[in-house]
Amino acid sequence: MKKKTIGILASIIMIGGVLGIFVWPNPVIQNPSFACALTEGNPQGPYYIAGAPYKEKLGEELEGQKIIISGQVLNQNCDPIPEAIIDVWHTDSNGNYYFQDFTLRGKIKADENGQYKLETRFPGKYSEAGLMRPAHIHVKVSAPNLSSHTTQLYFEGDEHLDFFVKPSLILKLDEKNGTKYSEFDFVIFTP
Ligand SMILES: [Fe+2]
Repeated sequence: MKKKTIGILASIIMIGGVLGIFVWPNPVIQNPSFACALTEGNPQGPYYIAGAPYKEKLGEELEGQKIIISGQVLNQNCDPIPEAIIDVWHTDSNGNYYFQDFTLRGKIKADENGQYKLETRFPGKYSEAGLMRPAHIHVKVSAPNLSSHTTQLYFEGDEHLDFFVKPSLILKLDEKNGTKYSEFDFVIFTP
């Protein structure tokens, strides 16, 4: 194998490893008969920490614009999934992850109708291996007796949307009194 080819392969592996491209979640098997299309997956990336506590709000102690994302967790029949769990982690407004005290990391619990509300700070961007990642929020959605589904949420109008982004994962934004608002329904498969 030529040196140049080896170099290119090494670069791809390095960048892929850093971005977590090889931690791509289990593929979502869409079925046209599903009343609600399953939420598409996205890589976990390298910065997840298991064991985050349940929280009502994230990042209250930090500066940055508040964002409130609300919606429902549903299954493929559009039935609500009661007490689904949304495990969230993301950067602060400057693009920094926190690795102590579970700052900007937490589990949000949906209610008996699958309704959830995530209140946090709008994430910043960060450069990784020379690539600028768009603003995003990582999530793992699960429910009792169900394995978790991993994806990322992005935001409309971001000039750095990269090759991980899927159109269905781009959230529309509203703004009122300095707070951003968005809505998103997670749809995960239940047997
Ligand atoms: Fe990330």
